Amino acid sequence: MNILSIETSCDETAISILNALGDFPDAKYEILGNALFSQIDIHREYGGVFPAMAKREHIVTLVPMLKKALGEASLEKSYHPELEDDKTAHIHKMLEREPGLADQLLDYQKENGTPPISLICVTAGPGLEPALWVGVNFAKALATIWNVPVVAVNHMEGHILASVFDGTRIAPVKFPALSLLISGGHTELIKFDDWNQYQRIGQTKDDAVGEAFDKVARILGLPYPGGPEISKLAAGAREAGLKTDKALPRPMIDSGDLDFSFSGLKTAVLYRVKDLELSDDEKMMMAREFEDAATEVLLKKTAKAVATHNIQSLILGGGVTANSFLRKTFTEFFSKEHPEVTLHIPEPKLSTDNSIMIALAGHSRKNEAMTPEESLSIKAEGNRSLTEESL
Ligand code: KG4
Ligand code: ZN
Repeated sequence: MNILSIETSCDETAISILNALGDFPDAKYEILGNALFSQIDIHREYGGVFPAMAKREHIVTLVPMLKKALGEASLEKSYHPELEDDKTAHIHKMLEREPGLADQLLDYQKENGTPPISLICVTAGPGLEPALWVGVNFAKALATIWNVPVVAVNHMEGHILASVFDGTRIAPVKFPALSLLISGGHTELIKFDDWNQYQRIGQTKDDAVGEAFDKVARILGLPYPGGPEISKLAAGAREAGLKTDKALPRPMIDSGDLDFSFSGLKTAVLYRVKDLELSDDEKMMMAREFEDAATEVLLKKTAKAVATHNIQSLILGGGVTANSFLRKTFTEFFSKEHPEVTLHIPEPKLSTDNSIMIALAGHSRKNEAMTPEESLSIKAEGNRSLTEESL
């Protein structure tokens, strides 16, 4: 089956087309088309993502991404039905909160026709609600025009699947499995005994670790998003042998539970640099110490969860897994201390938000697909929870 997936939860507008041969998790996948537009350059100017601006960008970018993905998949201009008039009016109504999108989509449909797609998967949460709604409404409109079922996908389940995807197949996962999800909005430990069955055994009590990276970067005067910037400076400090002798705190490292806290770490950096003009070397040392502290806490809690719950597969997911120091630290630690555990880390281009992971998560829940009529009830949910999605 050909799957079309849509991701608009934050500042990436992405559409992919995957062909799936067989059932999840044994299917063989082929990426037929993959279109992603990052809004980072637009948001950088403002030092972060404003939901209303992200929404506006998704509205103007979705049809170009659809065209690009279908073009790459050679699925453009496949079949030309005339759209019934009442459907046209219906589409305008469905996209009334996305000014201009209905016209763009209907014009494209007129020229292109209906492609052979048998499932639409769309991120319904968690994320920025105004941004999520654009993707959700677009999915409903496509489903109506093409008469194709829709699956509402949890973005975090997408991050888990991105990590075990090798480009064609889902890697074999032994259960119980543990996922450490680290992104701009999440820091959590999720245990599961089978696919689609999730239990949260630890989480941050305040900021997510990606958020802490972004905030510390801002304190140091670095551009948004801060994760990659901190990572570059920290790597430079390690290479040059620069290390501060004033350690930052490792919040909650010995708390005995599996929870995290990153807001105190960010505040510690703020106090450390307050009213000071840091030299380049001092910035590098601070970035290194922050990255060391964050990675150490994540590693220690994850190792504790692995040992306590007899974990067989460890799956790292979310944008912060793009961090090369964290990848190296986890790889070295688990191969030495827990060689029995299989460690899965997403390939760097699947670490951050993308729509391939949404296609995989949607395919794993093919049995939850809704008819175009039923899909009208799908809501964007900013706080959509993974543990409430268990089958
Ligand atoms: O998963 P993601 O792309 O979007 C969310 O769902 O939040 O994660 C984005 C987060 C941002 O906070 C960003 O700074 C962080 O991932 N990030 C990194 C790196 N690349 C992205 N953090 C540390 N090191 C990196 N190399
Ligand atoms: Zn994400």
